[in-house]
Amino acid sequence: MAAITCISKLSLLLILLSVSSLCVVRSGSLTLKNAGSIPPTCKRIECPSYDVIQVGNGYEIRRYNSTVWISNSPIQDISLVEATRTGFLRLFNYIQGKNDYSQKIEMTAPVLSEVSPSDGPFCESSFVVSFFVPKVNQANPPPAKGLHVQRWKPVNVAVRQFGGFVSDASVGEEAAALKASIAGTKWAAAIEKSHRAGHASVYSVAQYNAPFEYDNR
Ligand SMILES: *[C@@H]1O[C@H](CO)[C@@H](O)[C@H](O)[C@H]1NC(C)=O
Repeated sequence: MAAITCISKLSLLLILLSVSSLCVVRSGSLTLKNAGSIPPTCKRIECPSYDVIQVGNGYEIRRYNSTVWISNSPIQDISLVEATRTGFLRLFNYIQGKNDYSQKIEMTAPVLSEVSPSDGPFCESSFVVSFFVPKVNQANPPPAKGLHVQRWKPVNVAVRQFGGFVSDASVGEEAAALKASIAGTKWAAAIEKSHRAGHASVYSVAQYNAPFEYDNR
């Protein structure tokens, strides 16, 4: 979601199946060959650092020691794509200086959408859309109305990487494929335990490219 450039970039989407102690990421159609690789966008702009704990068949397990996010309040929508657009607009204004310190902040990746599917009568799910706070700003992120800071404790996440554009139709399929790829592993049990402990979001979608980038997504 950086400025428009015509340089071709590689980019990846990650789906994180997450539970508080474990998240799962999967690789999509481009997937296996990308499993364990660093999202190419992260060679241009700052991304959270992590260690790869294990590369499995169609998934990878990452450990994030500590990450800081600036996050919207939950957005109710029937569309992840629309909710992410709404949430990102707010965050983009934030980094452009619409915050209590009028401070500009460098663009980072990914933009994270934490998904809590609804079982309510209106089919709306709940999405928390977040921006990764650069290291230089992590000690004191500027406050802003309607946004809050999330500081993650060390967490393992199961990741599936996939290319192309995120659509509402593909997200559920990718999440299901991630879940299937870890079925029967020790990671599946850990995720289940974390879900039972009441972690609200079921999985997260991490997007590394701006909507107008058309190549090497
Ligand atoms: C995370 O913490 C461990 C233990 O302190 C350390 O060995 C590792 O290098 C850290 N990883 C990252 C990506 O900072």
